[in-house]
Amino acid sequence: MKNILITGGAGFIGSHVVRLFVNKYPDYHIVNLDKLTYAGNLANLKDIEDRPNYTFVRADICDYDEMRRIMEKYEIDGVIHLAAESHVDRSILDPFTFARTNVMGTLSLLQAAKVYWESRPEGYEGKLFYHISTDEVYGALELTHPEGTESPFTTTASSTEHHLAFGTEFFLETTKYNPHSPYSASKASSDHFVRAYHDTYGMPTLVTNCSNNYGPYQFPEKLIPLFVNNIRKRKPLPVYGKGENVRDWLFVEDHARAIDLIFHKGKPAQTYNIGGFNEWKNIDLIRVMIRTVDRLLGNPEGYSDELITYVTDRKGHDMRYAIDSRKLQEELGWEPSLQFEEGIEKTVRWYLDNQDWIDNITSGDYEKYYDNMYGAR
Ligand code: NAD
Ligand code: TYD
Repeated sequence: MKNILITGGAGFIGSHVVRLFVNKYPDYHIVNLDKLTYAGNLANLKDIEDRPNYTFVRADICDYDEMRRIMEKYEIDGVIHLAAESHVDRSILDPFTFARTNVMGTLSLLQAAKVYWESRPEGYEGKLFYHISTDEVYGALELTHPEGTESPFTTTASSTEHHLAFGTEFFLETTKYNPHSPYSASKASSDHFVRAYHDTYGMPTLVTNCSNNYGPYQFPEKLIPLFVNNIRKRKPLPVYGKGENVRDWLFVEDHARAIDLIFHKGKPAQTYNIGGFNEWKNIDLIRVMIRTVDRLLGNPEGYSDELITYVTDRKGHDMRYAIDSRKLQEELGWEPSLQFEEGIEKTVRWYLDNQDWIDNITSGDYEKYYDNMYGAR
């Protein structure tokens, strides 16, 4: 496989996937297709933008004719589809944009791939449409152990010391879809379309459902970068509800490594869940972030605790997400490389060392720059 289309490559996870593929596969041509919405930022890819095996194309996945043209022009063999609207709070305010991009956009990309690949003499041979999805499609798990309990699964060599589970149930690849937010409903719908293209037309497709990612280049509307930035600026930290909700956190480069492995070794028509068996209650995670930022900035211990501000809960706030990723670990040998304590330290350091990146986003300057370069979005 030579020509790979990665959508959403200017976003958080997409930029890590693009970087990994451009560096690791000099023989591949990596085409990064991104609309550059508020969440897309080419500064995330400064270090690889001049590489000969890399091309950036600004386009909207909802533009079917453009998707057809791009598939043909770059003779695309494989698609790794990450472009999406990704923030739950925005989906509550503006669900139509989520249906448009996540559902109609995915459909337009699927159809463009189908028409192009079916026009080729080799047909679907050597082709793959790989769709990146979320654990949120499975709905919410109950919090049956509010204080946490020893996880029922054997820890892998590198998994985190924390390793507590807050309930007895986990999301498996066979768990029934039960999305609650407009975001997760739109992702669930796109997952169904991807599987339908396999079942109906025989297109080789794959879907993976991953837990919450953290790491460098995440847009500062999401919990971790938002809070690191607010602690540094001594702004309030808005904790939704009681801060009791549980998320399962995975370092973004470990997700990118899993995507690489599954793209090359995964079996078409399969689903793989990706997660690090790393559950944290929001409030515990927030306390770790406060401690880490204060230490790195030389503040006394407990200095920023007063910034914690409990606010009205998110509507329909899912209580607990927890992924069972044993299928991926056992079938393909993937495991997370970083302990959480290491990953969070690395991440906090990155945001503190790259304040210009955040300031550029929070001031909106990066949007004006790309609008001048490519025309208004
Ligand atoms: P992100 O919001 O940081 O990036 C999304 C990218 O998609 C941006 O660069 C944006 O410009 C682009 N985009 C949006 N609409 C587009 C359109 N119509 N046409 C072309 N490009 C468009 O998101 P992320 O956190 O990097 O998530 C990437 C993917 O991974 C999403 O599909 C998301 O559902 C999934 N996912 C995310 C997480 C997480 O924790 N962030 C976890 C599991 C799965
Ligand atoms: P988020 O990063 O938005 O990811 P998701 O909703 O997709 O899991 O939020 C992670 C958790 O943090 C979630 O339970 C909501 C909570 N949260 C807050 O308490 N305050 C905030 O300001 C944000 C953005 C999130």
